[in-house]
Amino acid sequence: MSETASGSAEIDEQTRRDFLIWSTVAVGAVGTALAVWPFIDQMNPAADTLALASTEVDISQIEVGQSITVIWRGKPVFIRHRTPEEIKEAEAVDLADLPDPQTDDARVQKPEWLIMVGVCTHLGCIPLGQKSGDPKGDFGGWFCPCHGSHYDTSGRIRKGPAPNNLPVPGYEFTSDSTVLIG
Ligand code: FES
Repeated sequence: MSETASGSAEIDEQTRRDFLIWSTVAVGAVGTALAVWPFIDQMNPAADTLALASTEVDISQIEVGQSITVIWRGKPVFIRHRTPEEIKEAEAVDLADLPDPQTDDARVQKPEWLIMVGVCTHLGCIPLGQKSGDPKGDFGGWFCPCHGSHYDTSGRIRKGPAPNNLPVPGYEFTSDSTVLIG
């Protein structure tokens, strides 16, 4: 082998070694970064948790008699624009008839807007009644088909195995057309 060829081979060898060393360092750095990330990540609330700690909802498009469902902290929240009949019905109920006595007034800030977590208090199914064609149970509100719980137009449990009313989350009206849940 000529001197030049030998020199070139040495340079190639050196380059190859450098490459291997740098590759190892790079893998090491990536490996460390991947190992550290879960620990850093665990210390922060998940991004979606932060984003959904509170949810602002535009309610201006919800017609009287319509409902929408929004997701807040991973749970469905029912927002219903109640009809005058539904409000009247909810207000007229005798507390003695309620398994979980609560006045309608205690469950709403504005009578026309009923806002509650849409999770059945029996075993956690999502009750039907949000869509116009849904069964609404014997009391005109929501019906949980899992084991037959009936909720009234205030979301109070009236019949079936669920022990409690559908819970009302913390919320505030930030304007006539928006509500902040959470
Ligand atoms: S989960 Fe709703 S009735 Fe059982």
